[in-house]
Amino acid sequence: MRRYSRITGTGSYLPPRRLSNADLVRELAAKGVETSDEWIVERTGIRARHFAEPDVGSSDLALKASQQALQAAGLAPTDIDLIIVATSTPDMVFPSTACILQHKLGSAGGAAFDVQAVCSGFVYAMTVADAMIQSGAANRALVVGAEVFSRILDFKDRTTCVLFGDGAGAVVLEASDKPGILATDLHADGKHVDILCVPGHVTGGQVLGDPLLKMDGQAVFKLAVGVLEESARAVLAKAGKEPAQLDWLIPHQANIRIMQSTAKRLKLSMDHVMVTVDQHGNTSAASVPLALDAGVRGGRILPGQLVMLEGVGGGFTWGAVLLNL
Ligand code: ACO
Repeated sequence: MRRYSRITGTGSYLPPRRLSNADLVRELAAKGVETSDEWIVERTGIRARHFAEPDVGSSDLALKASQQALQAAGLAPTDIDLIIVATSTPDMVFPSTACILQHKLGSAGGAAFDVQAVCSGFVYAMTVADAMIQSGAANRALVVGAEVFSRILDFKDRTTCVLFGDGAGAVVLEASDKPGILATDLHADGKHVDILCVPGHVTGGQVLGDPLLKMDGQAVFKLAVGVLEESARAVLAKAGKEPAQLDWLIPHQANIRIMQSTAKRLKLSMDHVMVTVDQHGNTSAASVPLALDAGVRGGRILPGQLVMLEGVGGGFTWGAVLLNL
């Protein structure tokens, strides 16, 4: 009998400080940066985002989301034998945010490591956890996307700072003879490093290079819509399914126009696309599990439904996970 991995619990957490576009526009105006609610809504669909307080790290957000996911799965932290955290904004250079989270949860002993694939991070982390569960290397995994992107934003650059937010989402993935994850599809093309990056790094106690996010938005946009369609079709083909069979597409929440374009290419109605970018902004690796949890807790995404998770982001990286909830 095939051994699958199945989601048995979801959770999420947003830091309490919520900034509507009007709040952000006011804060930026005080710094001499001009933008507007109209521009942000029309170009991106974003209406609000959450920012963590300065003393709150990705592991703190991850902890709250993980506790919710564990509670939903009816498990204790000590039941978990694998923790993978997808993040590009770790608490420290090392150790991994996953190890810090493991300690905060009180669940020592299992494997714990981070995955760094920027906004595709959660889809990468789910694929690794699925492979480890299928192989028998793990039985009960906690897979988390957690980010404090507000830390790496240049608040003098209006072309990027209005787009991102902070948050975390988590799932518990358990071995099961019932599907579960049906197929996965991951890709990267490192020649596009420069179109979306944080080029700075730590050397000899100093930050060398610019430690803030740089993005060529139009180049990212064009690449994103192409690869999201390709990866969706590839993962569906692996499982012998058609786009029309999808109950839910949960794409990375970067821009409503990218999601609309992907849905159109797949001939899917937007009624089958989970959208949280309006309330969360782009939370990078946290965006997909945040949207999944919003759908599950809101009673829209139901047990047994066919769901596709899709990520795309810096690297360039992209991929998809197809599953029965
Ligand atoms: N407020 C007001 N005006 C602005 C702002 C702003 N915040 N930002 C840019 N503008 C201006 C520009 O200066 C430009 O003015 P000009 O025409 O006088 O030169 C005009 O608006 C249009 O700028 P564009 O960059 O052409 O705007 P576009 O329609 O491409 O939208 C955006 C920009 C929203 C960034 C879009 O390109 C996009 O969403 N790209 C994809 C981003 C994405 O998905 N990133 C995440 C990947 S995930 C990850 O790995 C982190």
